[in-house]
Amino acid sequence: MMPGKWALVILLTLLCWAGCGFCGKVLVWPCDMSHWLNMKCILEELIERGHEVTVLTPQQTVLIDYRKTSAMKFEVVHMTEDKTEFKLDLVLNVLPPLPAWQSAVKLNDFFIELNGYFKLRCESVVYNQTLMKKLQETNYDVLITDPVMPCGELVAEVLAVPFVISLRGSVAGTMERHCGKLPAPLSYVPVHMTGLANRMTFLERVKNTMLSVFFNLWMDYNDFHFWKQFYSEALGRTTTLCETLGKADMWLIRTYWDFEYPQPYLPNFEFVGGLHCKPAKPLPKEMEEFVQSSGEDGVVVFSLGSIVPNLTDKKSNLIASALAQIPQKVLWRYKGKKPATLGANTQLYDWLPQNDLLGHPKTKAFITHGGINGIYEAIYHGVPMVGIPIFGDQSDNIAHMKAKGAALEVNFNTITSADLLRALRAVINDPFYKENVMRLSRIHHDQPVKPLDRAVFWIEFVMRHKGAKHLRAAVYNLPWFQYHSLDVIGFLLACVATAIFLVTKCCLFSCQKFGKTEKKKKRE
Ligand SMILES: *[C@@H]1O[C@H](CO)[C@@H](O)[C@H](O)[C@H]1NC(C)=O
Ligand SMILES: *[C@@H]1O[C@H](CO)[C@@H](O)[C@H](O)[C@H]1NC(C)=O
Repeated sequence: MMPGKWALVILLTLLCWAGCGFCGKVLVWPCDMSHWLNMKCILEELIERGHEVTVLTPQQTVLIDYRKTSAMKFEVVHMTEDKTEFKLDLVLNVLPPLPAWQSAVKLNDFFIELNGYFKLRCESVVYNQTLMKKLQETNYDVLITDPVMPCGELVAEVLAVPFVISLRGSVAGTMERHCGKLPAPLSYVPVHMTGLANRMTFLERVKNTMLSVFFNLWMDYNDFHFWKQFYSEALGRTTTLCETLGKADMWLIRTYWDFEYPQPYLPNFEFVGGLHCKPAKPLPKEMEEFVQSSGEDGVVVFSLGSIVPNLTDKKSNLIASALAQIPQKVLWRYKGKKPATLGANTQLYDWLPQNDLLGHPKTKAFITHGGINGIYEAIYHGVPMVGIPIFGDQSDNIAHMKAKGAALEVNFNTITSADLLRALRAVINDPFYKENVMRLSRIHHDQPVKPLDRAVFWIEFVMRHKGAKHLRAAVYNLPWFQYHSLDVIGFLLACVATAIFLVTKCCLFSCQKFGKTEKKKKRE
């Protein structure tokens, strides 16, 4: 019995290997930080299913741990100049006191600098013939890219490999809407990152329309300024970054309808928010003891993410003094100096097992900077939130959660102890927030296919079929005036105008004639 059973297992395993007809090769152009944590989940699942994954990475990374041995292969890209440094000081201290337009100008300058760096990095890959030849010879089946850092789409086009985009959202949604042609009727789909919700007043709709036009032009300008010539040279035909992005076979967007406002979308868009979420694992022993010591009151989990390690003394003190006034125990991820006002109920940690804590039955609330990964963990486990957004898409993420009644927001720049305390008490004691986030959680869990499985399915689909051309709408070949039917509207207006003109002319003519005959009759 036993040997027979083993033989069967071995046979099945061999069959599986042989039967894995599309165990393919995957090339990855990642973006560091939280983007990488999300991408890694997809890649690990692909490896689990027998695919070979190679990641293109610069030497200097924050969370991409290419030095650690893993089943993933890394191709380290050598750059002439490495300056990945994120301008935390700019975001935390320089921008907040400035008027809105000055901070927008500064942010744009920073964006330009960032783009210059991205381009440098891209050139060192695309113009390195040894590297490109090596990649070409490997015959990849698919490339996965996070276009927040452009280039992956260019590498895919140069190598003639189909590519899949993984994206939460670009600046004002320009990449997915303007380049990817994701429909966004401006009357009820707010421009991404403006904090507008889906129900807009007349003036908000005016603002939404103006912002959309502005950001599309801004995208085109940057494209023209930074990428157009480079992409055209690399591909040997006139093209742009935007047009190249539009060639993506599949867009995997890191949100879902528990988070998004409902909007129309194209068949080559799949919404896979929360793919990284998992059931909670047991906590480390000491942490579990601390959590249990909270009794009936429970605990609050607090993290401003991996990018903000410390705050000014003033800010950390007023936050700590608010935390000291609640009956809950608090687990705060904080690497800075221990605040003087830290209460006995609060413990500081360099790092938190955030997902396991949010899944703990004693957790009552989550204080978060509003990164999409953390928001999804809170939705997954049904924990109401207090958002303290700092930069990027964070305030937009919190705005979504506020609109759905699952969070309250506290302004990071003007934060006071009273603000934080009021928001925390409301979120913990008012059942409104808990009920709403539980509703989102139920929606999130009730899907025909889990987000990670859908993401991996579409990547494998693209590998099996060498793309997903059957999902591509005809929109990608239309010039903008045809897309908006301006030529048709113009033509129809011209027809109506001609008709009106002819009818009036006829009327005038016959009236005149009629008048003349009348006069003639009178005279006779
Ligand atoms: C080009 O790529 C190869 C292979 O990755 C690497 O060894 C070489 O140093 C690169 N050349 C330059 C000039 O960066
Ligand atoms: C955070 O810590 C770093 C280094 O320890 C220091 O240079 C920086 O000024 C600190 N930031 C704040 C806001 O205190």
